[in-house]
Amino acid sequence: MSEATFLPGTYSNQPQSGRISWRSPSNIALVKYWGKHGVQLPKNTSVSFTLSNCFTETTLHYKKKETAGYNFEVYLDGNREEGFEPKISQFFDRLQKYLPFLEQYSFRIETSNSFPHSSGIASSASGMSALALCLMDLERSWSGAEMTDDHFDKKASFLARLGSGSACRSIDGPLIVWGEHPEIDNSSDLFGTKYPFEVHSNFMNYRDTILLVDKGEKQVSSTVGHGLMKDHPYAEQRFEQANANIVRLIDVFKSGDLDAFIEIVESEALQLHAMMMTSLPYFILMKPNTLEIINRIWKYRNETGSKVCFTLDAGANVHVLYPANEAAEVSSFIESELAQFCKNGSFIHDLAGIGAQSL
Ligand code: DP6
Repeated sequence: MSEATFLPGTYSNQPQSGRISWRSPSNIALVKYWGKHGVQLPKNTSVSFTLSNCFTETTLHYKKKETAGYNFEVYLDGNREEGFEPKISQFFDRLQKYLPFLEQYSFRIETSNSFPHSSGIASSASGMSALALCLMDLERSWSGAEMTDDHFDKKASFLARLGSGSACRSIDGPLIVWGEHPEIDNSSDLFGTKYPFEVHSNFMNYRDTILLVDKGEKQVSSTVGHGLMKDHPYAEQRFEQANANIVRLIDVFKSGDLDAFIEIVESEALQLHAMMMTSLPYFILMKPNTLEIINRIWKYRNETGSKVCFTLDAGANVHVLYPANEAAEVSSFIESELAQFCKNGSFIHDLAGIGAQSL
């Protein structure tokens, strides 16, 4: 499938004004996307659990205009956020070819997150996918031809990717693959697709409790972070290893082997951070409490035989992953032992979910 698939047809019945709302979740990568090329194309395949409770809700108000160029304003929790506007402007530039109506309307983008803004939880995946879905919904209503759900989802994911790579994995759920892989049919660099093979019941409703270790601004933006992979001495090895980890996961998802799952997922998190520590410039994004939490998880696992494990994004927060049948025990472990290492004791319980929804 090529980018030409997503070029628009002709529009009819375009209204003067209206509004549309979508809710889109965040996602947590098990095999990480870290390194890109071209326009938002991944250097390796990644796979993620779509989340449920961490989401963005976006309402897009639109009104026909006669002037040329884009016209939009962004509001977060009711307050104008001019700081977001350059990113949205760049997003619109990338989308224009696929959604020519962007220049015909002025937009008011009202957005809010279910998680605190300064939590260090990346809002780009949920935020960009929610906006992409609103725009895609307009295209569906205005296009003369009938649109299949499959095309809708693929193009929404394709558009979301142009805003933020990981956003393309937030349209659907619970397990999404992004990046062409020889062993995964229909996988694509252009959009995320549902993981197509058998998944053992051990992975149903998998839990992810996000421990908010550091609530500050990100030390390294993901754009800068991906850029660090360009001249990285270990880059090729890393991309190969990610693609090999995907192959290992195919067996693991089928057999339900949680020990192998833990090994792959924790290794992926540490590899991501190893890449940052060995790039130029170099960064340490983990905090002392991140390490303390990791050690406590390992100790708990050794002592109890639990299948709890951790993963990390490009920051200090820890995602604690565990099977649904351990929800009660691991929640009390988190409350009694791990919460003390979080800023203000804060964490968010989440679980794998089915993707975005229209509101
Ligand atoms: C570490 O999707 O935020 O979370 O495409 O530049 O917006 P951009 O990057 P982004 O990168 C996410 C990186 C990651 C790993 C992952 O989600 O796969």
